[in-house]
Amino acid sequence: MITIIGSGKVGGDAALFTALRRLDGEVLLLDVAEGLPQGEAMDINHMLAEQGIDVEVRGSNDPAEMAGSQVVVVVAGAGRKPGMTRMDLLKINSGIVRKIAQDVKRHAPDAVLVPVTNPLDPMVHTAYLESGFERSRVLGMGGMLDLSRFRQLICAATGRSRESVRALVIGEHGENMLPLARFASVSGIPLLDMLPAGEAARIVEETRGVAAKVIGLKGATVHAPGNAISAMIEAVVRDRNQVIPASTPLDGEYGQRDVSIGVPVVAGRGGVRKIIELDLDADERAVFERGADGVRAALAGI
Ligand code: LAC
Repeated sequence: MITIIGSGKVGGDAALFTALRRLDGEVLLLDVAEGLPQGEAMDINHMLAEQGIDVEVRGSNDPAEMAGSQVVVVVAGAGRKPGMTRMDLLKINSGIVRKIAQDVKRHAPDAVLVPVTNPLDPMVHTAYLESGFERSRVLGMGGMLDLSRFRQLICAATGRSRESVRALVIGEHGENMLPLARFASVSGIPLLDMLPAGEAARIVEETRGVAAKVIGLKGATVHAPGNAISAMIEAVVRDRNQVIPASTPLDGEYGQRDVSIGVPVVAGRGGVRKIIELDLDADERAVFERGADGVRAALAGI
């Protein structure tokens, strides 16, 4: 079973995409709001019935029902409004994530924990500390979403198929995210060999700010995060040793300790198989370290 805690727009979309990918026979939607997870589950099941997909989506308000989950996603909490940064949600959401981590520890102690709630990296570390899980079982979804945006912008700039883009976004899921243009390629051709000077830097900057643009236009980001959650669940449950960006606690990697932040990981059943240490250049390392320092400062404030 796969459990998604938080049945708002993103949680509902994550359940829908998880079912469409047939990642498990059962998906549980949990929420404190009476009726919301139950209604969301019914609506998705009606859609699945038309598609002939035998994945059962259930809705509940009882955390105990997550027992036996192989993956638990935590997307509950307030979302940012236009003009807010993700870090502005720190105080509101830290208490929610702490309580949920205690529930997961009690009811699904063997699960892989996938925090999504913002501010992502401080929430990942909070969930890690509160759950007491070994760090390999804690993978925050942030970079996977940033990567989907980075890929879209690379496609738009190069005119190539979305399928042909390979890239990574690491660092803070926030103002100091690090889309790695130097490591990006299109059908094996380095991105920097395909774009005029300065164009890659523009794409990197646009990747950092595009979520706020979507929020300003439609009030929230929904489908890209919902899909990115299901892509991360797939990397875990399909056990493919896939390299993905994930926010996970570091213990010396990239020279960082006592912080969770986006890094390339080899993901498989059970979570993080390996953290990949890239040879970052001075500029990349400066952005990465600025992000880690910001996450550490946020953690000190809760
Ligand atoms: C975003 C939120 C989920 O980037 O952080 O859309």
